[in-house]
Amino acid sequence: MEFVTYEQEGFVGVVTINRPKALNALNSTVLEELEATFKAVDLDTTRCLILTGAGEKSFVAGADIGEMSTLTKAEGEAFGKKGNDVFRMIETFPIPVIAAVNGFALGGGCEISMSCDIRICSENAVFGQPEVGLGITPGFGGTQRLARLVGEGMAKQMIYTARNIKADEAYRIGLVNAVYPLEELLPVAKKMAAGIAANAPIAVRNCKKAINDGMQVDMDKAIVIEEKLFGDCFETEDQKAGMGNFLEKDKEKKLKVVPFQNK
Ligand code: CAA
Repeated sequence: MEFVTYEQEGFVGVVTINRPKALNALNSTVLEELEATFKAVDLDTTRCLILTGAGEKSFVAGADIGEMSTLTKAEGEAFGKKGNDVFRMIETFPIPVIAAVNGFALGGGCEISMSCDIRICSENAVFGQPEVGLGITPGFGGTQRLARLVGEGMAKQMIYTARNIKADEAYRIGLVNAVYPLEELLPVAKKMAAGIAANAPIAVRNCKKAINDGMQVDMDKAIVIEEKLFGDCFETEDQKAGMGNFLEKDKEKKLKVVPFQNK
């Protein structure tokens, strides 16, 4: 791969977008490599992923403006679909994905972080949807996911004004869960991922699916989705061992979660 690297550490995989010359901007090749990288993840041995950007300045500075600059209407729509398909694959990926946002997360960068389950960022992170300043709309899910995450009013303000926000404001509006000094970001993300990976994998996957699928429907349908995924956990080895450990009062085995600090 030219622009995406993958490293496995125990049950945790780290996907890094590595196109520093363009501040990790997403061109077609990056999108294709991201798709291939996620599809190659061994789900038998991986329980959580971290998505980050190479370098100390940028997570992802957006979709590639050079590549987009000459597109026709039909090509623009197809490029939007290409990004949306990859981001939806990330959003619905069976295991959790943590975005470790290490700098600029603009346009497609903010959008890819929003397709992840959890966002944490460094103090130098900058979020924004600058597309209307470029004469386009956010096209990789920004008009949909930002409103769902931070509310319609704040999303509209950010998108219409194209104003970027710093890490502390992103934290204040709930776009990120926590802010860390840059050098602590990846270690914290790895600790969090290890904590997730220490829990019952089928249960964690079912939680992701229950939340994702349930958020798309009304509460009556949502609780039925939950019931099915709850029921699906029973008779698994994890359920038997997890509850067995509790009942046997085996404290060593019960303490599976590695705690992480949320500043
Ligand atoms: N596409 C292509 N190249 C990009 C890029 C992008 N989105 N963002 C940065 N780059 C390139 C620059 O062109 C520059 O390349 P050269 O060295 O070859 O000139 C290199 O990365 C470094 O960038 P700057 O010199 O601009 O760095 P800076 O520190 O002065 O500024 C920045 C950093 C504020 C992030 C600035 O680069 C910037 O504003 N980038 C564009 C951000 C943006 O508008 N993103 C949204 C894109 S549209 C989109 O994403 C649509 C969608 O929803 C699908």
